[in-house]
This record gives sequence, structure tokens and C-alpha cells, in this order.
Amino acid sequence: MRKIVVFTGAGMSADSGIKTFRDTDGLWENHAVEDVATPEAWVRNPGLVLDFYNARRKQMHEVEPNKGHYALVELEKYFDVQIITQNVDNLHERAGSSHVLHLHGELGKVRSTRDPNLIYTPDHWEIKLGDVAEDGSQLRPHIVWFGEQVPMFETAIDITQTADIMIIVGTSLLVYPAASLIGYVAPDATVILIDPKAEPPSGRNIEIIRGTAAVELPVLIHKLITNENKKKYA
Ligand code: APR
Repeated sequence: MRKIVVFTGAGMSADSGIKTFRDTDGLWENHAVEDVATPEAWVRNPGLVLDFYNARRKQMHEVEPNKGHYALVELEKYFDVQIITQNVDNLHERAGSSHVLHLHGELGKVRSTRDPNLIYTPDHWEIKLGDVAEDGSQLRPHIVWFGEQVPMFETAIDITQTADIMIIVGTSLLVYPAASLIGYVAPDATVILIDPKAEPPSGRNIEIIRGTAAVELPVLIHKLITNENKKKYA
């Protein structure tokens, strides 16, 4: 089976009703990113940070995967599909995708402030000040904040290098190191970018599809499956 690596950003979940980060005046759900998504914010005001992620977690349980998420599941019948997502929601998993790597952490998980290996999956959305890990330290969101290391990045590079086709969906390609992944795609691989405001990164040939994930991803995937079947039976 040929390998398709799908790299998704906030636009992938926009059609499910989760707001993107940079489409709203630099504010994220009415907060400056520095006030809620940095290690400094956590030290300054952990209550605000917990409340912010509690609201995101609650919303995640209220929304549903969209047609784009489901199309990626269908693709698995014909290709070896690996998803690398910058999103912290669980919509790819809930749609049924089998291989999902979260570059920026997961909303559904929390961890010890002291020991990054003590990770938990609570069955409720609300984490309060005073909720502690087994080492006695405050639980924090299992999220890679701005200014923190991206522990899964090396794994993401390894996966990206194996792609025959790379599909990039709904990302402004502004946040590093994630945005630099594209530089690791093999020179002879096909790269396709779906985004209503797609600006092709320079330096390689990229097929641009200006449109939304829920509309354009199913169309593209139908085309890829049809072509693959033609090859198989040619
Ligand atoms: N379908 C596809 N793309 C869309 C849609 C849609 N319905 N709606 C918006 N978009 C596109 C926008 O045009 C934009 O290019 O999604 C992109 C969203 O960009 P960002 O908000 O910058 O999100 P992303 O690239 O995922 O941000 C990366 O930044 O805040 C951090 O850690 C956070 O993972 C996040 C990272």
C-alpha cells in the first residue's frame, strides 16, 4: 500500500465548530495566547489557564467530527494512512482514524506539573486548582505550550520522510517547528494543501486547493481512491 501522511491544523476542526487561532484578531476565544498557552501564564495564573482548557475540553465533548475527518477514515481502506495533527482535540480518533500523532498534546489528557511522565485521562472535563497527580503536584493540561519543546517532533519527521503523498489541511503553517515538517517530505512525493487561504510555501511544487476541509477533503480523497483503483486494475 502507498503511504499517505496527512498533516492537519486548526482548520481541520473549524467545520466541526472549533475556532481556529489566527482567524480572530490574534485572540483565541477572547484571550491573548500568551495569557493562556505559555509556561509563564501557568506560573502567573494557573486558575485562568485551567479554566481556559476546561472550556476547550467541554466544547470538545460537545462537537462532532466533520465529513473531512470521516473521509480520512475511508482512505485507510486503500492507503497506509498516518495523521500528524497540531490539533489537541480528539476528532480524528472519534471519527475512527487508526494512526494519529498529536504534535501539540491532547486536551483529553492531563499530567503532573513536576513529572511529564505522569499522564492521566480524566473521565470529566473540569480540572480544578488542588487536583493533584500521584506525586502531589497540580495537574496541568497535557498540551505543548508556546515556548515548550515539541517531544513528538522527531517521530513526526520520521513519518513524514516515508510519505508517497502528503496532504496538508487547515494550517497557516506559521508555528514552528511544526511548519518545517514539509521540508522533510521526499523530493519525489506529491504534496497537496487544502486551506481557504492557502499560501503555497516556497521551495517546492505543491498542489493548492483553496477550500474547506469538510468540502474539499472528501472530493480529493474520492479522486485519490479512484486513481489508486484504476492503477490496481490496469
Ligand atoms: N477548512 C480548512 N482550513 C480552514 C478552515 C476550514 N473550514 N477554516 C479556516 N481554515 C484555515 C485558515 O485559513 C488558516 O490557514 O485554517 C488555518 C488555521 O490556522 P491557525 O489558526 O494558525 O492554526 P494552526 O496552523 O493549526 O496553528 C498551529 O498554533 O496556536 C498554536 O498550538 C496551536 O496547534 C496550534 C498551532
